[in-house]
Formats: sequence, C-alpha cells, structure tokens
Amino acid sequence: MNIILLGPPGAGKGTQARTLVEERGLVQLSTGDMLRAAKSSGTEMGNRVAEVMARGDLVTDEIVIGLIEERLTADEGGNGFIFDGFPRTLAQADALGELLEKQGQTLQAVIEMRVNDDALVARVTGRATCATCGEVYHDQTRPIPEDGKCVKCGGTEFTRRADDNEDAMRNRLLTYYRETSPLIGYYYAHGKLRSIDGLGAIDEVKARVDGALSA
Ligand code: AP5
Repeated sequence: MNIILLGPPGAGKGTQARTLVEERGLVQLSTGDMLRAAKSSGTEMGNRVAEVMARGDLVTDEIVIGLIEERLTADEGGNGFIFDGFPRTLAQADALGELLEKQGQTLQAVIEMRVNDDALVARVTGRATCATCGEVYHDQTRPIPEDGKCVKCGGTEFTRRADDNEDAMRNRLLTYYRETSPLIGYYYAHGKLRSIDGLGAIDEVKARVDGALSA
C-alpha cells in the first residue's frame, strides 16, 4: 500500500503517518523531516535549504525529488510507503508517478486532510516535537507529560521548529494554496483522491483515515 497524505501545514499529516507506521508497517517518507536532517548536517545543501524553510517557501523540485528517489530505491518499503509532505507541486506529482512506475509500484490512495486556517495556525504555533524519537505534542491538545518525559521513548528534550511562528505560517499557507492545492484536482482526475475532515480529536481523525483507506 502506497499512500499520500495531502494537506496544509498543521493538518495532522505527520501525526497520522506515525500511527499508520505503527499499525500497518508502512514506511513514512517525510520530505520535511529529510530536509530538516540535511539542514542540521551542515552540508552545502543543508545550508541552502535552511533559509528557504524558515521563510515557509518551497525547496526546489530537483532537491526533493532527488531525496525521494534515493529513499525509494534504497528502502525495503515494508508494507508500502506513506508520502508525507510530498508531492507539493505538479512537477513533483509527475515525478512520483514515474518513480513508482519504475519500481513496479502503484499509488493506492491520496488522503486529503481538510482543516481551516485558524485551526492550522493554532496547531503549529503550539507544536513541540520529541528531539529523540520525533513524537509530536501540542501545548493545548496533546501536552508534553508532566514528568517531562516523552510517552514513546522517555526522551526529555523537545524542540520547536523555526518555521512554526505566525509570520512563516501565513506564508506556508499561501504557498500551499498556490503550489500544492492544485494536486487535489490532479489526484481527483486520477481517481485516487479521498478527502476527510481533519478537525476533531486525533483518534477521530484516525478513524476517518482508516475509513478512507478501506473505501
Ligand atoms: P513539512 O515538515 O512537510 O511541514 P508542513 O507540510 O508544513 O506540515 P507540518 O509538519 O507543519 O504539519 P503536519 O500536517 O505534519 O501536522 P502535525 O501532525 O505535525 O515541511 C516544512 C518545510 O519544508 C516546507 O515549508 C518547505 O519549505 C520544505 N518542504 C518539505 N517538503 C517539501 C516538498 N515536497 N517540496 C518543497 N519543499 C518542501 O500536527 C501539527 C500540530 O497539530 C501538532 O502539534 C499536533 O500535535 C497537532 N495535531 C495533530 N492532529 C491534531 C488534531 N486532530 N487535533 C488537534 N491537534 C492536532
């Protein structure tokens, strides 16, 4: 099963992807995580993308397609891939189609997660992530436990992203509507699109994701 989680920043793609990894043995491919790893590695490419990401603009198609190609050819893929934050442009969507075809694989579904802008801003500005395992928390809806330890790995260090501020978030949203939302029509035309309401408790959204995958 290869699926895409499509939605604006803060829609809950990463949160739902982590559950799908645990429950279905899928491999999560998050271009955001890959770019953040490159950024902290201090490589030339990392330095180039750091500024772009902090502004909330898109990194070039060439770079992200290269990252995905590397992982698709290197990974076993488990029971399939979850593409989280990729593709984000029509060129990336075409490239993914070609890469999957080359590997003899197909795309089962594209799950579009819909959440309104105000809720998205509230979600990202309250986000914290476990520095050890990447578990995602939120100041109001999923606070870091009182003992200060991550529920998944017991880690005690938590990070906040440089682009999780209101200014960068407004730009990330505009970028999403301009560059990425055309993919909704693209995948609808390919018969792959399944749209769900991304508002509600994390478990409620999970039930909708499960429903969309078995539809
Ligand atoms: P990326 O890392 O992909 O970020 P994003 O798409 O902006 O998405 P987020 O990670 O912010 O949100 P999410 O949907 O995963 O939400 P989450 O589950 O964490 O990209 C970052 C940057 O990298 C881009 O701006 C760009 O510069 C670059 N980039 C990445 N991919 C690229 C590509 N393909 N091409 C070009 N450039 C690329 O949830 C958010 C918060 O909400 C958390 O605190 C969580 O606890 C909470 N939450 C989750 N679900 C719920 C719920 N149901 N109710 C209440 N709170 C919830």
